[in-house]
Amino acid sequence: MHSGRVRLRLFGKLLLTYLVVVVITVTTLGGASLYLVRGYFLQQREHLLLVQGRQIARGAAGYLSGGFPDRRTTQVILTFFGRVLEARVWLVDGSGQVILASPERHPVVGTMLPAKQTKGVLSGTAARFSGYDPLFGRPMLTVAVPVRSDRRVLGAVFLHTSFSPINTTVDRLRNLLLYSTLLAVVISTAMALYLSRRLARPLQEISAAALDMAKGNFDRRVQVDSADEVGQLAETFNYMAGELGKIAEAQRRLESMRREFVANVSHELRTPLTAMRGFLEALVDGMVKDPAGRRRYLAVSLEETLRLNRLVNDLLDLSRMESGQLAVDLEPMDLGELLHRTVEKLEPLAAQREVLLAVAPLPPLPQVLGDPDRVEQILINLVDNALRYTPAGGRVEVAAVPEGASVRVSVRDTGMGIAPEELELIWDRFHKVDRSRARSGGTGLGLSIVKQLVGLHGGTVSAVSNPGEGSTFSFTLRRAEGFDSGDGRG
Ligand SMILES: Nc1ncnc2c1ncn2[C@@H]1O[C@H](COP(=O)(O)OP(=O)(O)OP(=O)(O)O)[C@@H](O)[C@H]1O
Ligand SMILES: [Mg+2]
Repeated sequence: MHSGRVRLRLFGKLLLTYLVVVVITVTTLGGASLYLVRGYFLQQREHLLLVQGRQIARGAAGYLSGGFPDRRTTQVILTFFGRVLEARVWLVDGSGQVILASPERHPVVGTMLPAKQTKGVLSGTAARFSGYDPLFGRPMLTVAVPVRSDRRVLGAVFLHTSFSPINTTVDRLRNLLLYSTLLAVVISTAMALYLSRRLARPLQEISAAALDMAKGNFDRRVQVDSADEVGQLAETFNYMAGELGKIAEAQRRLESMRREFVANVSHELRTPLTAMRGFLEALVDGMVKDPAGRRRYLAVSLEETLRLNRLVNDLLDLSRMESGQLAVDLEPMDLGELLHRTVEKLEPLAAQREVLLAVAPLPPLPQVLGDPDRVEQILINLVDNALRYTPAGGRVEVAAVPEGASVRVSVRDTGMGIAPEELELIWDRFHKVDRSRARSGGTGLGLSIVKQLVGLHGGTVSAVSNPGEGSTFSFTLRRAEGFDSGDGRG
């Protein structure tokens, strides 16, 4: 819409610049050359008149001193030179009176020239006048040469020429300059038009792309076809568009993740809430008459409440960890002791599931850096999973081995295992391998909490699994180097 205006303004500026340059160049150069040419022609003409005037004066000297040539011959000489030089030639005697003239029988013959004109030349020095001549009524160039004989001045020869040949040449030159100026103006206009188009097109394209970008389209790129500043601008613009596109994409992804998270949370909250509502409504309506039934309803409601409690705690933990508000208190700790204690705690659950739970024989372990409560939380999550996803009669084993600057803790089960394509995803929030079997009670937050917690300890998590045979989940904790008690090192 305003692109045409950009081009027009650019065109105007360029044209103005060109015109100023053209006008200044023409007036200075043209004026100077006109002046020089005019001066040169004038000088040439003056010189010629002077040289020829001396020649005539030499001839006329004989006549004025009363010898050869005679009056007729002198007249012929004057006429001849007058023709050749395109000049009026007058012979003046010592008193300043014109006695012969070319052309012949001119009315000036017999008249006295003003003393102003004759005084200098009759005292023996050649003279020149140029400018308006009242005798001719127009500008004339006049050269006067004294006629001498034996150092005596007998008279003078006057040669008058008009300026018209010089003027014609100068006029021609001026016309030439005028035409070339016109040509320069035409070329300037064409060039300004071409350049303004060339310059404006990429700028217009950039501006259009910027408008597109403002509307949220970051895919558009400007065609870069020049290596100048405009091309550079286009390149920079494209780079910016790419970076902004990436940022916008990341924001979009974050936004959709947040939306998905809210949906997941709502979903996880609704299931237990719906169940509890059903039970509580039945109780309030007095539909359950026998005390045993009533107790069962209440017990299930309590269970759902606990489940909700756990879910909310997990969510809180996760959000605190992600916003960096949950810090771990790292201290040197004895891992073996913690493993035994935690497994002991979970024994009743294992018994309930009819799964064998044990700590494998441990090699000597160095102390590790950890927050005991959080390490226990990690372990409980992993063992809980192992017990939950292992059918009755299976076996779960907790082990630990030193590994470089760390200790690796692993939880191995003989459960259903995880398909290879799922192994990466199970660490995501709310991810459950099989939604239908999720009724086993999980919400899909456990492993994301584990991953975050291990990360806070400076360790890594990993899982390997053979579907149908079992899985091994493991994580590393750093050795407490400076704090090491020394037992079992190396
Ligand atoms: N030892 C395992 N064997 C087989 N599948 C497992 C094992 N551990 C985790 N999984 C799969 O990974 C999913 C994610 O586990 P995670 O601990 O994050 O969630 P959950 O156990 O379903 O719920 P929560 O732990 O939050 O109560 C589980 O739903 C399960 O499908
Ligand atoms: Mg779990």
